Amino acid sequence: MLRIAIDGPGGAGKSTIAKRVASELGLDYIDTGAMYRAIGLKIHRAGIPAEEGEKLEELLALTQLDVEGEKIFLDGEDVSEAIRTQEASMYASACSRLPAVRRELVAMQRRIAEGKGVVMDGRDIGTNVLTDAELKIFLTADPHVRAKRRYDQLLAAGKEADLETVYAETKARDEQDRTRALNPLAQAEDAVLLDSTDLTIDEVCARIIQLAKEREAQA
Ligand code: DC
Repeated sequence: MLRIAIDGPGGAGKSTIAKRVASELGLDYIDTGAMYRAIGLKIHRAGIPAEEGEKLEELLALTQLDVEGEKIFLDGEDVSEAIRTQEASMYASACSRLPAVRRELVAMQRRIAEGKGVVMDGRDIGTNVLTDAELKIFLTADPHVRAKRRYDQLLAAGKEADLETVYAETKARDEQDRTRALNPLAQAEDAVLLDSTDLTIDEVCARIIQLAKEREAQA
């Protein structure tokens, strides 16, 4: 059983790469960011202040989150598209510092991965969710390149975007994700660092697959 943890800042290419690696190795792909995005959307829609409190606990207790392949359902509603806006990125990052949210989602992520070969991407997979993963990757890239990729994705999805704004939000989200008190974005000591700034998706995938096969052979 092979478990691959891929962590890194937004726009480094984690989900595209994790999806491709999972499909080539016959593993399940689990996008943990989508879960924080869905909960962020729920908190935003409910209009409750993004702080820990009774209201948040109540809201989480009443929330039903279901992951089916690449689709995510919030209280039965397919929010797979709605969670992909720039605003949803910021709501996700904001809610991801709340202990009650992390407690729920980390438990759910461990449950989903139990007894299975998986590729899981996020911010704290190697350092917290799957600390005993066979392979840990920390995928990063220059922030300008990450912002440009995100900008291109938004345009390709038919959304309006401004490169300067996307860059500013990329930096703000990096800062928020790296400095939060609980399980911040960090490279695990035993993670392999990959910088995708000058690499193609194919090159990054090939490197991860090669490392995965080496780890499997060792196990
Ligand atoms: O990977 P993403 O951009 O979809 O993640 C959205 C936000 O969710 C990110 O800014 C921080 C948070 N997140 C987290 O705290 N821990 C994870 N394992 C995954 C995402």
